[in-house]
Amino acid sequence: MSEAPALSTIGVYTSGGDAPGMNAAVRAVVRTARHIGLEVFAIYRGYAGMMDGGIEPMHRRSVSNIIQHGGTVLKTSRAPAFCTPEGRRKAYENLQAHGIEGLICIGGDGSFRGAVELYDEHKVPIVGVPGTIDNDLYGTDLTIGYDTAVNTALGAIDKIRDTGQSHDRMFIIEVMGRHAGFIGLASGIGGGAEEILIPETRTDCDAICRRIQERRDAGKTSLIMVVAEGDEAGGAIQMGKKIREATGMDFRVCILGHMQRGGSPTATDRMLASRLGYEAVRALAAGKANIMVGEINGEIVHTPLEETFTRKKPINEALVEMAAILAE
Ligand code: F6P
Repeated sequence: MSEAPALSTIGVYTSGGDAPGMNAAVRAVVRTARHIGLEVFAIYRGYAGMMDGGIEPMHRRSVSNIIQHGGTVLKTSRAPAFCTPEGRRKAYENLQAHGIEGLICIGGDGSFRGAVELYDEHKVPIVGVPGTIDNDLYGTDLTIGYDTAVNTALGAIDKIRDTGQSHDRMFIIEVMGRHAGFIGLASGIGGGAEEILIPETRTDCDAICRRIQERRDAGKTSLIMVVAEGDEAGGAIQMGKKIREATGMDFRVCILGHMQRGGSPTATDRMLASRLGYEAVRALAAGKANIMVGEINGEIVHTPLEETFTRKKPINEALVEMAAILAE
C-alpha cells in the first residue's frame, strides 16, 4: 500500500458457527495489519467479547502455528444480547476504550447482520470475511470452511457406503446446512448418493419412495440418501419415517452434525482464508467500510455487507440436474 492507512488501530473477531480456516484468516489479518503498521486487537468470543471486554493486543507471533488448526483461537459465540441497541452501545464503548477504529468480522450471515447494525448505529467501519461451512453468502464463490466441511462429510459417506454395501442397507445421512444445500449437493454428488434432498429444490416424498422401490426391484441392494438438515421435508429422521411408512423398508440414519465443523482446513480453505484476510485489511486501511471481501472466478470482489445475506446465493441448477441423472 502506498497511501497512509485510513486508520491506525483495528480489531478482529470470529463470530457465529466456527469454520475450518478461520485461524488462517485471523493469521492473515494480524500479519497484514502489522505489515502496514496498524495496531491490531483480538476480540475474543465474537460479539460477546466485544460487549464484555475480552479484548487483547495481537502481534505477528501471536498467530504462529495456527494456520493448520480447525476451530478458532479467538473463540466464537452466538450473542443474543448484541441484537439489542443497548448491547451494541456497550460494544461500541468498549471498542472506543481500546482505541479501535475499524473491524474485521470473520463469520456468516448472522455475524454480518450484527456488523451492519453496529455500522448503522455507531459508524464503525467494518469489513467482512466470509467464514461459514454453509457457503450461503452472496458475493463469493466459496466461504471459508465449506471445502473442508464437504470433504469431512464425504469421508463419512465413503465409510458408511462400506457398511451399507456389506449389509445391503439403505442409509439416510444428514448433513449441515440450516437454510442452504451447498454441503448436501456437493457431498451427495461426490459420495455418489442416489438421492439428494436440499432446501433449494422441492422434495417430493412420494416420488422418492417410488424411485427407491424401483431401484430395489431392479436389484439395487444398498442406497445412500443425503439430506440437508434444512430440507423442507424435515431432516433424516423425518424422511426415514416417511419412507418406512410408504415402503416398509429398513434403513439406518446417520446425522453427521458438528463433526462437519471441525478438523484441519484443506489447502483450498487455507488459501482462501489467507487471501481474504489479507484483502480485508487492505480494504479497511484504504477507507472501505460496510463491505465483504469475496472471491468470484478467482478475482477479489467487494460486496455491500447487507447484500451478502439479503440476496440469495443460487444453487447450481445444472448440478442438481446432473446429480439426478448420475444416480439413475
Ligand atoms: O452456520 C453453520 C452451522 O454449522 C449450520 O450448518 C448449522 O445449522 C448451525 O451452524 C448449527 O449451529 P449451532 O452450533 O449453534 O448449533
